[in-house]
Amino acid sequence: KQLLVLNGPNLNLLGIRQPEFYGATTLADVEDLCRQTGAALGAEVTCFQSNHEGALIDQIHAARTTRDGIILNAGALTHTSIALMDAIQSVELPVVELHLSNIHARESFRHKSWIAPVAVGQICGFGPAGYDLAIRALLAHIEAAS
Ligand code: DQA
Repeated sequence: KQLLVLNGPNLNLLGIRQPEFYGATTLADVEDLCRQTGAALGAEVTCFQSNHEGALIDQIHAARTTRDGIILNAGALTHTSIALMDAIQSVELPVVELHLSNIHARESFRHKSWIAPVAVGQICGFGPAGYDLAIRALLAHIEAAS
């Protein structure tokens, strides 16, 4: 299986930014973890990060014909972007929504997710380990659906 791990705005600063919420692990570490988990489970994981909504939407569109599923940490766009929600709905690929922090235990503006209604499910609050869980969950979902 071919999976895309998509990280949105400010996640390039992982390890530097608010470590009390997001930990000391860098994005490069997280992406390595994703590729390793994927490889151990027979899946090829491609990673992409952008601070730009349109670039993330382009990646989702491109994944339509090249990937079997997407793990998406949309960062703050989670709480604002109907365009990302529409992109996910348009490509009809299974998406697992991912957050390092438990968004439901934080400010109320983080409780709303525009991704959740079009995702298979949501994993949040487990830090970088959540990416490993998300890959496992997505592959199990793809297997069950095929
Ligand atoms: C985040 C949670 C969002 O609310 C925040 O804007 C982020 C990161 C997380 O991974 O916990 O940028 O998606």
